[in-house]
Amino acid sequence: MTGRARSAGASGAQASEGPAPADARARVDAAYALLGDAEREATRVVHDPATYTRQVPYAALAALRERHGVVPVTEPDLPGWPAGSGYWLVLRHADVDRVLKDPATFSSALGGTQMRDPRTEEDLAYVRRMMLNMDPPEHSRLRKLLAKSFTPKAIGALEAQVQGHVDGILDRMRAGGTVGADGTAWGTTDFAKDVSADLPLLTLADVMGVPAQDRWLMFDWANRVIGWQDPDYRVSAFFDPAGATEMGRAAYALRPEPGPDGLLPDPRSRAGMPDLYAYAHALGTLRREQPAGGSGEDVMSILMRQRDDLGGSVTVEEFENLFWLFAVAGNETTRNGMPGGLVGVLGDDDAQRQLRADPALIPQAVEEMLRWWTPVMTFRRTATRDAELSGVSLQRGDKVVVSFASANRDPEVFDDPDCFDIHRENARRHLAFGAGPHVCLGAWLARSMMTTMFTELFARTSWLEAAGEPVWLQSNFQRGVKRLPITWR
Ligand code: HEM
Repeated sequence: MTGRARSAGASGAQASEGPAPADARARVDAAYALLGDAEREATRVVHDPATYTRQVPYAALAALRERHGVVPVTEPDLPGWPAGSGYWLVLRHADVDRVLKDPATFSSALGGTQMRDPRTEEDLAYVRRMMLNMDPPEHSRLRKLLAKSFTPKAIGALEAQVQGHVDGILDRMRAGGTVGADGTAWGTTDFAKDVSADLPLLTLADVMGVPAQDRWLMFDWANRVIGWQDPDYRVSAFFDPAGATEMGRAAYALRPEPGPDGLLPDPRSRAGMPDLYAYAHALGTLRREQPAGGSGEDVMSILMRQRDDLGGSVTVEEFENLFWLFAVAGNETTRNGMPGGLVGVLGDDDAQRQLRADPALIPQAVEEMLRWWTPVMTFRRTATRDAELSGVSLQRGDKVVVSFASANRDPEVFDDPDCFDIHRENARRHLAFGAGPHVCLGAWLARSMMTTMFTELFARTSWLEAAGEPVWLQSNFQRGVKRLPITWR
């Protein structure tokens, strides 16, 4: 190991050691030129965000995974995706797991964690303020403080709140139905927008002490950040300031206007989210002085009271960045996981019958939904030093993208991986929540939301079926469901 690589690994990636894009691009281009025509076409399809409005290209992923394990992917200028340096796509379960568990070699900080490079050094510095884009030991401090804030009492309270929210959402769904000639109630609904979207919003509002009437601001923020590749989501605004708190209205007044191209500013720059930051600042200050609900037992109020090993506390600026991360990371992901799981059930009548007959099967089925659907399809790291993966040599500065979508369908780990099987014994080996130091902090809460939602959904209905064409999100990052019309009885 070189002295330089050692220092990058030990102390987290330093800005001065930033990636070397010119070399990195040349290496991707040279390796890409050696691929066959069919393989080049497969990487093009896998990369193009437009592909995902039709389907996830599992056949292309499988062919690339079997033959290469790690493939060079170029980033040409595409509608919805600016040209980039290209990257190495890691497709096998074992390699994805290894990359995620070795932050000294595969840094989250060096180039951030998104496939698309930050546009400027300033934008890179901005995303690095979030713990998602930090390496140990910087990352460990916040992670530890947060872990301590999810106390058993706070978790118990959140689980009870999830149950209450699910009850309310499904009562609303049933109230929208009618009673048929045979006396049974039935109705149609958009399971993505009208059922799933509200649960993570309400739950995250509880976690962060956000007043419930402001929660649709988070829907807007998450859409702008996660759905920026999608023509609808990148400009979405479902928030009605009329019923909001003063804090909500003040933040909304700062929402950026679309430019002459009809687009909002880049949401991964500080200038792109002034409304979110204004809100987070006001909330962080308020929660320090006045814990939510007066009890002070919500996670963010507890967090604001924590002390780190040196006796320091979470600053309001750190709170703002955590707020950004939670509002975005916990929202769209869970909102897509629920309809994604339901797509699996709608395609398998036996599974639906069995889950109705024996709700004890639901937690295991949720693991299979997460594996089979994989709401977050990719994350990015940058190599801090030379490494080898599946026989492919990587060098310092290379952009490395792990494919959870591919790893979760790797036949080396999962038999008949394309099959949705609620009895799959090792479904929990999926990597849908990542692995290593950044493994999803909200995994238990996402599992709780999904399990409660499906338990109550099956308990309050006698059958569910598709009622029209679903609409998928245009994104190579999130496997998103914009609309999933269903009929319930
Ligand atoms: C089905 C739903 C979810 C999925 C699929 C998901 C997926 C992920 C993945 C793959 C990562 C790892 C990122 C990396 O390695 O760079 C992650 C991190 C994270 N997730 Fe989730 N997530 C979900 C729900 C949630 C929820 C509900 C919350 C909040 C309550 C949350 C908060 C976070 C945070 C804070 C991180 C960053 C952790 C760190 O940097 O140490 N997620 N998530």
